[in-house]
Amino acid sequence: MDFSEMWLDIKPIENIDINSVSITCTSRETASSAAVWELRNSFSRLLPDVRFTERDADYKIKISIAPMDSPESFTLSADNNGASIVGGGGAGTLYAAFTLLRDIRLNGFKTLNISETPSLPLRMIDHWDNIDGSIERGYSGKSFFFVDGELVINERTVQYARFLASIGINACAINNVNVRWGAEMLITDKYAEKLSALGELFERYGIKLYICIDFSAPISVGKMDTSDPLDEKVQKWWKSCANELFSKVTGLGGFLVKADSEGQPGPYAYGRNHADGANMLAKAVKPFGGKVIWRCFVYNCAQDWRDTETDRACSAYQSFSPLDGKFDDNVILQIKNGPMDFQVREPVHPLFGAMNNTNIIAEVQLAQEYTGQQRHVCCLLQMFRDFLDHRTYCNDDNDTVSDVICGIAAVSNTGDDHCWTGSELAAANLYGYGRLSFNKTLKAEDIVDEWVKLTFENNDAQSIISDILLNSHDAYEKYTVPLGIGWMCKPNVHYGPDPWGYEFDRWGTYNRADRNAVGVDRSSEGTRYSLLYNEPLRTQYNSVETCPDELLLFFHRVPYDHKLKNGKTVIQHIYDTHFEGYEKAKSFAKAWKTLEGKIDDRTYENGCERFNEQLRSAKEWRDIINTFFYRFSGIADEKGRKIY
Ligand code: GCU
Repeated sequence: MDFSEMWLDIKPIENIDINSVSITCTSRETASSAAVWELRNSFSRLLPDVRFTERDADYKIKISIAPMDSPESFTLSADNNGASIVGGGGAGTLYAAFTLLRDIRLNGFKTLNISETPSLPLRMIDHWDNIDGSIERGYSGKSFFFVDGELVINERTVQYARFLASIGINACAINNVNVRWGAEMLITDKYAEKLSALGELFERYGIKLYICIDFSAPISVGKMDTSDPLDEKVQKWWKSCANELFSKVTGLGGFLVKADSEGQPGPYAYGRNHADGANMLAKAVKPFGGKVIWRCFVYNCAQDWRDTETDRACSAYQSFSPLDGKFDDNVILQIKNGPMDFQVREPVHPLFGAMNNTNIIAEVQLAQEYTGQQRHVCCLLQMFRDFLDHRTYCNDDNDTVSDVICGIAAVSNTGDDHCWTGSELAAANLYGYGRLSFNKTLKAEDIVDEWVKLTFENNDAQSIISDILLNSHDAYEKYTVPLGIGWMCKPNVHYGPDPWGYEFDRWGTYNRADRNAVGVDRSSEGTRYSLLYNEPLRTQYNSVETCPDELLLFFHRVPYDHKLKNGKTVIQHIYDTHFEGYEKAKSFAKAWKTLEGKIDDRTYENGCERFNEQLRSAKEWRDIINTFFYRFSGIADEKGRKIY
């Protein structure tokens, strides 16, 4: 077994007077049998000498099912004599089992009374795995789902399903949203048997299987001459495709679709809109309870940089808000957290406040494409927390992002690396994402605390690693891109600084820096993006005076001597944060060095390598960004530090 068990690595607990355990289960649901297996397996690791018996056990676990809010709901009560688990369905019993095990590992055999229903009905992981085994924006090795065009299922797959279930994930799309290199064939007979085996495995763990499809599959797979969603032949083709797939593949949840985006085909080619496209597919999967998850990441990726009217940030809003209420009930729109593309800082996407009559879910990115690619430590959980808590003002109350979404999806950060996530520390993002989607009220610091305790035994290591994680996003933001402007990274690879790399390119990602000013005017005087928000956000973002500093350059173009709320000029803020950010990164690397011998060697060495790279890269960011702005503005650092 060449992989780590991450947070499921169970160590024995000492001095517990339990010699025998009984587990009785009245439920026949598949996920309940996984619950029994998990409990048995974990108890035999927690208490290596334990005997499993049918009766008279020291610790008795009873599992049953009763009607509840949802099949995923559960009640769990426990004390030091045993536990009673009641699930609304098999999945509920499984979640209760993982909750019990987690609590025992964290707190010992304590009294426990928990009733829980997951906050968000859909809690999804999206893999950008290609069928040849590569991963788009993957920083943790290769795909463990695909090898050379084949779908593989092995002990790693089982372990992965266990990880996902243990944090409450209930849906997984296994292939890249950019469906290419033969992945369009995933919906054909060629893959049905393997998909079904995977779907069955996932089903045991309460996870629905999703496939990304090629919108033009009627052409690429069906050899037809059109994929027009309003063409009856096309509709019939998809119906028979869905019929075949759902009858052959166990546990299939539906399709995830990237259409009319970055070169992917879509309904626009036929003069149709996204509702036409999504509803056509929705009708095909509806008889089987299937869902169509349709991405809103739609923009013109062939923009002319000279064009200052077109604004990529407005694009998804313009395409989708007029369609609110026009989607079938089994369509779910998937909206990225911000209007651009997973930058370290972006405003919350205005669509979250504009789709009251549509099923919407949020999309976040665990793969650290723009946040250091798992070579830099960057804990995203506080960012997710702030995002979920953000008020959209689309209703009188219940207006935060977490109120208006029916689910959340995250681009996976896993691959076939020993530790699954490139850096062991990046696993905190996966763990925390799941926990937060299951219970949207959890605090980032509590989740981090939980994760470090489940992952590392040594108390010093736990507190040092927590401290690094909780400060890591702030540090990363400081030494990289200032005040929400984004995109100062190297084109294509999205790693390392290149402040003008995207300035004259076609992607709609500009900072408009010159010797007088920096930032994009997205106010009512500029691209009018700020007007897409509901009041009072519209007014707040529209004015330089009230716009939060952290997003200043996203919304406004200001001179370098513009004063921020703390009295500092923009240019001085840029210098200060870049020096501070680098110092922070240095302090993380130093703190990590103290962990030698306190954590396992492999994790320690991997961390050392990655912190070295983070330091090299942070320094490069610091010096290039500072120099770039110094050369433009001609304004010296007040503190006289070295700028080139
Ligand atoms: C980003 C990313 C692409 C990805 C795209 C998407 O642009 O760089 O690799 O395909 O997002 O979310 O579809």
